[in-house]
This record gives sequence, structure tokens and C-alpha cells, in this order.
Amino acid sequence: MTWVAQTPPQAFIWRRLHSLTGIFLSLFLIEHLLVNSQAALFFGQDGKGFVHSVNAIHNFPYLPVIEFFLLGVPILIHLIWGIKYLKTAAPNAHKTNGTTPALPQFPRNHAYSWQRITSWILLIGLLGHIVQMRFLNYPISARVGTQQHYMVQLTMDNGLYTLAPRLGIKLYDRNQIEMKAKETFSRIHDASLGETWGAFAASIPKIFEKERHQSEQLTVHELIYEQEKKERLDWLKALKTFQLKKNEVVAVTDNFGTAELLIVRDTFKMPLMIALYTIFVLAACYHGFNGLWTFMITWGVTLTTLSQRFMRYLATGIMIAVSFLGLAAIWGTYWINLTS
Ligand code: HEM
Repeated sequence: MTWVAQTPPQAFIWRRLHSLTGIFLSLFLIEHLLVNSQAALFFGQDGKGFVHSVNAIHNFPYLPVIEFFLLGVPILIHLIWGIKYLKTAAPNAHKTNGTTPALPQFPRNHAYSWQRITSWILLIGLLGHIVQMRFLNYPISARVGTQQHYMVQLTMDNGLYTLAPRLGIKLYDRNQIEMKAKETFSRIHDASLGETWGAFAASIPKIFEKERHQSEQLTVHELIYEQEKKERLDWLKALKTFQLKKNEVVAVTDNFGTAELLIVRDTFKMPLMIALYTIFVLAACYHGFNGLWTFMITWGVTLTTLSQRFMRYLATGIMIAVSFLGLAAIWGTYWINLTS
């Protein structure tokens, strides 16, 4: 008998890739919620563990490239093929369209349905989460000398005052930002810049333009002064980009992790966000670790009834533990650990 090597059909390869990216995302989920849980657990440490972990990740070299290939690409593959599979899903835990029998007596049929329901929740939740954390609330940064500063917009509460010195942050409300602008304005005042902040701000690009032309004739001392001036203006410009309401402030910190901690605290101060993130995290944990169970079958690791039962206990255990980490971050960051 001759053995002929055959390449597996494309549909088979994409199914495995979808499965592999799914398990990869489940591993990421464990890492992500372990880091986030540190914002809430270890009471009295003011989220030090969270700040440390986030800073370590933020300081990785080539982070955007790593994020693109290790997170962006797997998510996209899993998402695009996930939607394709959702369109052909055939749940049978409840009344069906008549082509297949309804078999609600088998728990795995319910699990099949929930794997699909949680897919839709994750699709919306992931988009919302990325838009919020990556775009709407992402810290704005500005450098002064060797120090990078990170700024985030927060709603004010009494706890922030007591927390500020402990976390090493400075808070600016609308009035303080105006005062800071005036202070900077008078310090580097130049008659050609105009008398009001508006005229001054509008002239910032002109100052840089002027500096570019002048820089060749400046002494080293003057060059350093001009550089400092530029940094101060950039810093001020960053602070002025926030459109604050009356009860809002900008927090300025010298490290990215603390800025993120403040965003997490601010988010989970709001009952609506707590409710939405609770649904999102529970859906992700169910989907990811029920998925671990199906993954082990997809790849032929658990083929006997006994091994599948063992895997069910293991997957459920991990599901509960990781859910606890996520819920701790959601419910505990503001309401238990960092209220004041
Ligand atoms: C937190 C993000 C996610 C994680 C951790 C995750 C993880 C997983 C895992 C581990 C599996 C099992 C793979 C297997 O049985 O071999 C799976 C299956 C699946 N995922 Fe996801 N997933 C995520 C997001 C999504 C999203 C956003 C969608 C929807 C577009 C989706 C759609 C699906 C579908 C339809 C299946 C079932 C595939 C099948 O058994 O035919 N997933 N997922």
C-alpha cells in the first residue's frame, strides 16, 4: 500500500488556527486579570503591585510591535473566523427551527449555546474596552527634562485628595490649569506673543518656527533655555487639551502605571461601568475556559469520558479563579482598596 501525503483542507487549518488563537487569548486573559487584580487585592498597598506590573509591561522594548503581533493579529483571526462560525451555529438546547431536534437534557448543548452567546457579548465588550482604554481614557504624555509626565482626566472625589500624596500625583482643576498657564505665560513672556492666553496659545507654533530659524545663531546657554521653554509649552499644551467640567480634574503623574491605576479607579467608581464590566469579565471567563475544555477535544488531548470529566473540573476551577481576579479588580479597586 502506498501512502500519499495530503495537505489538510483550508477549512481544517483555519479551524485549528481559530482554536489556537482562542487558547492563546485565554492565557492572555489570565495574565491580564492577574495584573488588574493587584489594583484591588493586597489592601493598604495602594495598588503598588498593579503599578509595578503595568510599568514593567509599558517599558518593554518594541511594545507596539509585540502588541500588534501577539494580541492584535490573534484577536483579529479569532474574531473574523468566530463571526463566520457564529453565522452557521446550530444551537439545540432550546426550541430549534425544526431541522434538528431540541435536546435540552444534555448539559453540553447548553454549554454550546453559551459559548455562542458569550461570543456576541465579547464582540461588543472587546470593542468598547479597547475604545475606552486605548483611545478615550489613554494617558496623554509630555516630557520635561528627563522626566516623562502622564496626564489623565478624572471626576473629583474627596478620596483623591488623600490619595494624591500617597500616589505621588498632582491634581489640577480648571482654575489651577488657568493659573499654571498664566504662570508659564509670565515666566517666558515675550511682547510679541500677545497679552491673553488665547493669543499666546495661538502663537506657540510661531515660537517654534522662530526658534528653528534662530537656533543657528544661539549660544549653548540660550539653546538650553529655548529647549526648556519648548518643553514647558508642550507640557502646558498637553494639560490644556483636557476639556474639564466643573467636577473634573487632571491628575499628573511621573509614571504610566499610576496613570492607569487612576483610570481603573475612576472607571469602577461608576455603578454602570461596574455592571457592564462584570458581564464582560464573566462572559470572557466562561468563553475562555469552557473553550479550554472544547480545545482539549479539538486537539485530541481528552478523548475518553474520564479525561473529559477531569478536564471539566479543571476548566471550571480555572474559570472560577480567574473570574474572582477580574471581579476583585472591578468591585474592589475603588470601593475597597482606593476609596481614600
Ligand atoms: C476574551 C476573548 C476571547 C477568548 C479568550 C476566546 C477563547 C476561545 C477559546 C479557547 C475557544 C475554544 C476553541 C476550541 O474549541 O478549539 C473559543 C471558541 C470560540 N470563540 Fe472565542 N475567544 C474570545 C473572543 C471571541 C470573540 C470576540 C468571538 C466572536 C466573534 C469568539 C468566537 C468564538 C466561537 C464562535 C467559538 C467556537 C468555535 C467552535 O467551537 O466552532 N471568541 N474561543
